[in-house]
Amino acid sequence: MTATLIKGTEIREQILEEITAEVAQIKEQHGVVPGLVTILIGENPASISYVTLKIKTAHRVGFHEVQDSQPVDISEADLLALIEKYNNDDAINGILVQLPLPKHIDEKKVLNAIDPDKDVDGFHPVNVGRLMIGGDEVKFPPCTPAGIQEMIVRAGVETKGAEVVVVGRSNIVGKPIANMMLQKGVGANSTVTIVHTGTKDLAAHCKRADILIVAAGVPDLVKPEWIKEGACVIDVGVNRVGEKISEKTGKKIAILKGDVDFEAAKEIAGYITPVPGGVGPMTITMLMLNTLKSLKFKLGVA
Ligand code: GUN
Repeated sequence: MTATLIKGTEIREQILEEITAEVAQIKEQHGVVPGLVTILIGENPASISYVTLKIKTAHRVGFHEVQDSQPVDISEADLLALIEKYNNDDAINGILVQLPLPKHIDEKKVLNAIDPDKDVDGFHPVNVGRLMIGGDEVKFPPCTPAGIQEMIVRAGVETKGAEVVVVGRSNIVGKPIANMMLQKGVGANSTVTIVHTGTKDLAAHCKRADILIVAAGVPDLVKPEWIKEGACVIDVGVNRVGEKISEKTGKKIAILKGDVDFEAAKEIAGYITPVPGGVGPMTITMLMLNTLKSLKFKLGVA
């Protein structure tokens, strides 16, 4: 058996087209467009490329976009004041502070300073709480878990009553996706297990999964014999295992590997996400969706 590929690159295009159409409609009816600011501190190359792509995507879907780059030695007080400025800016519906931050800045303080109603990353404790309660309380599900759920739904995989096993307990992926999959509603209503570095028999838990979501950060952790025949396997791992020269640009690029042994797993799974081109493209897409939602909440049309 060869699994059906769930391609994030294709789903991204569908969703971005849907967002673009909705932005145009809101502009016509209400005379406004969603506004997103990305705040980048310092010159970390990976952060620069993520932020550049976020801003480019925001521009593509018709948002008002602001890239606010600050020096690496900005004080914590100045960064908090900058966030407060955007909290009070009517043209901005989403504020994203690119992580990681320099060591002299307290990440928790910074994330907590963002107005929860503009927290399109979904990292503020208020939004974490809203996600836990579920249903109508949820405003901004964190982008990577939201992207995973969207991929599962659009692939037509049954989630109601499914055994979902999540490998990894991070605040950004493992805990929120587990929480989302156990809620009542579309794309959820599953029986969820979280496994982690303290779990006794990782393989036995994974083997039970109808939907296996792997966010461990360990290349090729999941072996083919850990996968149930026909399961849906979502690989969140983005592990840099070397470098190569890009055929397209002639420049050095990272060789990426997922947390799942893809070549072997695709012969057993029913559905599988590739790396790259699977979950990765969904994160920025869901950031756009959260920013659009933020404006819709403000306009009372969500
Ligand atoms: N750094 C890497 N991924 C993310 C993300 O999703 N949001 C923010 N704010 N920073 C990041």
